[in-house]
Amino acid sequence: TLPRRVAIVEVGPRDGLQNEPGTVATDVKVALVARLRRAGLRRIEVGSFVSPRWVPQMADSGEVLRRLSPGPGDRYAVLVPNLTGFEAARAAGAREVAVFASASETFSRRNINCSIAGSLERFAPVTAAAAAAGIRVRGYVSCALGCPYEGAVAPAAVAAVSRRLAALGCDEVSLGDTIGIGTPAQARVCIAAVAEHVPPERLALHFHDTYGRALANLRACLDLGVAVIDSSVAGLGGCPYAQGATGNVATEDVVALLHGLSIDTGVDLAGVEAAGRFITAALGRPPRSPAAAPAAGP
Ligand code: HMG
Ligand code: MG
Repeated sequence: TLPRRVAIVEVGPRDGLQNEPGTVATDVKVALVARLRRAGLRRIEVGSFVSPRWVPQMADSGEVLRRLSPGPGDRYAVLVPNLTGFEAARAAGAREVAVFASASETFSRRNINCSIAGSLERFAPVTAAAAAAGIRVRGYVSCALGCPYEGAVAPAAVAAVSRRLAALGCDEVSLGDTIGIGTPAQARVCIAAVAEHVPPERLALHFHDTYGRALANLRACLDLGVAVIDSSVAGLGGCPYAQGATGNVATEDVVALLHGLSIDTGVDLAGVEAAGRFITAALGRPPRSPAAAPAAGP
């Protein structure tokens, strides 16, 4: 059976903007988050505390976080790769962080410059410090449905990393199809395999739309007990360390799909479309989502 309600985690301000060639002004980022919030998105990934040499687009995440004032129930999260990032995020007022691992060794090294095992060792002090500070932690697993360097990734490998992240104290594990290579049947098999180790209520689907299959893949997983989906306004996004990762599935498309299945999201589609027009105008490019296209004709 399908879930009655799905929570959307809007990742555009982070996963989207980290991959834009130009830097977006802090003012624009703050305004984008405000618009997304007004559209009913309560969970928004607003930045990341990574090396500014690796990802200069996110260098102002501390400033972004300081300028936001989340109301009760608003969850604004930031990525942290290590304790250095965590401490900076906490100093900027973060109430929720995300660590990010990979199911593929090569991707792990390219993305965060260490092995999978090494990354989990780095996350342990982060989750411990977060627990002590009452800060919520999400864990990502990249390359869940395939790796740009290694090709196929075994569901067992995804399950193993997911289980470790959950054991470290991540209250949610988000499974990334980083390069959008998955297919519906494969996505289902992988998510079901992970759900044997981490309860599906603690999983999220983070699918990129590189080959236009993200919606089909999401639909194929919706009756497995997962009720959290990551998406990016206007289909912004990608990953600077995964060649060909063109963008997250568009929030507009996910909201339209879910509402079409009579699944509640609490999100106002017109409001997300407006936010998409705002950010794509600032970036000087059209929104990627067909749902966000202007209505044709008179
Ligand atoms: P490293 O070079 O191995 O780190 O990078 P290090 O510990 O050796 O430190 C090197 C320098 O970086 C030092 O500075 C540190 O202070 C500094 P120096 O002494 O040379 O001046 N440093 C930091 N600065 C700011 N913030 C920090 C930090 N840590 C160290 N947190 C590191 C390791 C992880 C830092 C680097 O590889 C990095 O920043 N990687 C970021 C990669 C990234 O952001 N990727 C995109 C996000 S993941 C993603 O998009 C996938 C996802 O969407 C899911 C999916 O789709 O699959 C989540
Ligand atoms: Mg991603």
